[in-house]
Amino acid sequence: MEKVTILGSTGSIGRNTLEVVDLLSQRFKVVGLAAGRNLALLYKQAEKFKPEIIALEREEDAAKFKQNCKKPYPQIIFGTKGVEEAARYFKNDIVVSAITGIKGLRPTMAAVEAGKRVALANKESMVTAGFLLRQAADKNGAEIIPVDSEHSAIFQCLAKERSQDVKKVILTASGGPFFQLSRQEMKLKSLDDALKHPRWNMGKKVTIDSATMMNKGLELLEAQSLFCLEPQQLDVVVHPQSIVHSLVEMKDGSVLAQLSITDMKIPIQYALTYPERCESPLPALDLKAVKLLEFMEADQEKFPLLRLAFLALQKDRCFSVALNAANEIAVEAFLNKEIKLIDIFEIVDETINSSVRTNIETLEDIFLIDRETRKRARNLIRQRI
Ligand SMILES: NC(=O)c1ccc[n+]([C@@H]2O[C@H](COP(=O)([O-])OP(=O)(O)OC[C@H]3O[C@@H](n4cnc5c(N)ncnc54)[C@H](OP(=O)(O)O)[C@@H]3O)[C@@H](O)[C@H]2O)c1
Repeated sequence: MEKVTILGSTGSIGRNTLEVVDLLSQRFKVVGLAAGRNLALLYKQAEKFKPEIIALEREEDAAKFKQNCKKPYPQIIFGTKGVEEAARYFKNDIVVSAITGIKGLRPTMAAVEAGKRVALANKESMVTAGFLLRQAADKNGAEIIPVDSEHSAIFQCLAKERSQDVKKVILTASGGPFFQLSRQEMKLKSLDDALKHPRWNMGKKVTIDSATMMNKGLELLEAQSLFCLEPQQLDVVVHPQSIVHSLVEMKDGSVLAQLSITDMKIPIQYALTYPERCESPLPALDLKAVKLLEFMEADQEKFPLLRLAFLALQKDRCFSVALNAANEIAVEAFLNKEIKLIDIFEIVDETINSSVRTNIETLEDIFLIDRETRKRARNLIRQRI
């Protein structure tokens, strides 16, 4: 049996992972779960999967959880240190990293340093610390297998290719709910409108990032780090059907692509079973029913965060860290209804114009830039409300 710990088990990726593990219960056993505040769901998960270790975000929730635990009692820990401990738990073979935001970075690094296979959904850790994670993976014999559908597609296309034969990697984007709207029309869109993604059912932060197309920007930076690509080797096309999950153009003119129905359980399962493939109970892709696959230009003027991400590909690492931090704070403020959707663009742009520059050698350097950028973004938000 392969032992799995899921960081962010109560979230969208976490729940999908547990469905996959349940279906493949002959092969995988859940030994650890980590979650934030959704205790009700975590109880149910713990009862069904009987993990040995559970990490919660807050001490008071851990105490509450402990009181209601049933036999066999798991070890219950809390805080960032607790989540890191669950990530490096000695029995883990695979750690699914699915906490949202830079909060996922330390536990992801803990799993990598412990030499685990990391099924990586938390794109923010690769955006901010990709080179440190890759260095640590090489040193400790860890594997980083992408879960994001685009990166899973690229990973699969590149499996048998030599890096010198790759000309371009093209990420597909659904375009989100506002792709067809003018900037003026976008100004009128509410939080509820932004949370209605046309294709994917995801957590709130990544859904808002999809509406602003920052999600694709983060994915560009994630792809650059994961696959060691030059800025000019990366591009984005809008593909509203979300059937082609990304493409790789080879130097002989061949274009490789991975296609499937729109369901995260497919890339999650692949990250768990790689290099093998297992049967899936999901419906097969029916191309005759899909009929049409469209591809169009992504408008960087209308979606300025995507333009900033393309710029970040060329800039130093501090820029990506600051871009991510400013975006996290602006999205949080939008989710709290403190600012409008369109304000996210301006706040991120203004914040990173004056962001800290330092040499990044450790995670602490990254967290320094992150903290300073967050402060600046919060000040700008305060001035608006
Ligand atoms: N959803 C997708 O389809 C998708 C696709 C590709 C990539 N991703 C990436 O995967 C990551 C997760 O996305 P998601 O959509 O699954 O997010 P989500 O639904 O918001 O779930 C986030 C999870 O993290 C937990 N969490 C938050 N803070 C925590 C902390 N301090 N300690 C422990 N657990 C904590 C949450 O717990 P509670 O809910 O209990 O508070 C929840 O289980 C993101 O980086 C996203 O960009 C998602």
